Amino acid sequence: MRRKGIKDQVAVIGMGCTRFAEHWDKSVEDLLVEAAYEAFADAGVEPTDIEACWLGTFTSGLAGLTLSGPLKTQYLPVTRVENMCATGSEAFRNACYAVAAGAYDMVLAIGVEKLKDSGYSGLAVTGPDSDGTAPDITAPAAFSFLAPAYFNKYGLDSEQGKEVLARIAWKNHRNGSLNPKAQFRSEVPIESILKSPTVAAPLGIMDCSGVADGAAAAIIVRAEDAHKFRKDPMYVKALTIAAGPGDGRLRQDFDFTSIRENVWAAKDAYQQAGITEPRKQISMAEVHDCFTPTELVIYEDLGFSERGQAWRDVLNGVFDLEGELPVNPDGGLKSFGHPIGASGLRMLYEMWLQFQGKAGKRQLDNPKIGLTHNLGGFPWQCVSFISIVGKEIG
Ligand code: COA
Repeated sequence: MRRKGIKDQVAVIGMGCTRFAEHWDKSVEDLLVEAAYEAFADAGVEPTDIEACWLGTFTSGLAGLTLSGPLKTQYLPVTRVENMCATGSEAFRNACYAVAAGAYDMVLAIGVEKLKDSGYSGLAVTGPDSDGTAPDITAPAAFSFLAPAYFNKYGLDSEQGKEVLARIAWKNHRNGSLNPKAQFRSEVPIESILKSPTVAAPLGIMDCSGVADGAAAAIIVRAEDAHKFRKDPMYVKALTIAAGPGDGRLRQDFDFTSIRENVWAAKDAYQQAGITEPRKQISMAEVHDCFTPTELVIYEDLGFSERGQAWRDVLNGVFDLEGELPVNPDGGLKSFGHPIGASGLRMLYEMWLQFQGKAGKRQLDNPKIGLTHNLGGFPWQCVSFISIVGKEIG
């Protein structure tokens, strides 16, 4: 694999993000307008400066009309994209490529989802029954398999294993308690996490991300133009998405302790950005903690921990806000919930705030390189997105 990528060719000059919550009183249109106008104000540009838009949504609208109506974009091209839970990241990726290609000077990437009104839950299985050859399974159940597989392979008994998972949930809720835009803004004691009602054994409610509504947006220009708008843009170093062949459940060597698409995506993104020692070179990461064991496996798939060592790193606080490599400083999906089309851009929004020193009580000490990871599908069959972004060119 050798892809050139678009390192340092495009930059973000403004971002916006609604609070992620149960927005019973707001429509999809309201959320889109709120996120977009926050981004316009942040960048100091007018809506009419935008030349094209990419909209990510999984189920909250069809076609570009979902955005062109509320934003009154007046006949601009608006492309609606969908790539399961990586939908918001996919909107960003495509928008960046259009600017890098020279087709546009300034574009908008925006993602939205309004799940609460839809009745969506991780426990509902939608669609007709399959022919019996594909598992008919919920998301919590699919990701629950990672936990016993990891515990068995690396010699943790179930009690130790649950403690490791609870430590991940505790960290993310702690970070979320410092974030005014998170859905859940309370710290949760480890004992409560361990006692939370079972959803898909061994996972309890506190091992699951929540269900929320929200939107997030980014304005992208060519890197060479970014300083015309602000002194502190965010540069894109790498963008990648690995769509797997979907054969995990048929392979003898697929053992539920690693997600192959993550490994492929990480290798590609690191090559594009010139990262050789991820744990040292990356200052912070937002990863797809749809369930606590997913975050555990991601640490190893992305090279943040050696194989079989992530559980020790978790207990040693390596990924805490004060740790060597803070992961999910904004509170992650655990605290924000997962409005599917918005999550990928919400992760980039945290990178943006952190680089600018605007992350309030969860501000990290001068982060230089950030990574976002956004996964869609099941462990044996998924798409895995990674972006690497930086504060400086080079
Ligand atoms: N984490 C923390 N608290 C949660 C929570 C979660 N994941 N889910 C619900 N809660 C809280 C609610 O805020 C509420 O608190 P309150 O009583 O103080 O207001 C309480 O638990 C009950 O909420 P409710 O909405 O009735 O929960 P639920 O039982 O309908 O949903 C889950 C719980 C776990 C089923 C739901 O959060 C879920 O489906 N999560 C997974 C989503 C998913 O699969 N996404 C795809 C990822 S790939």
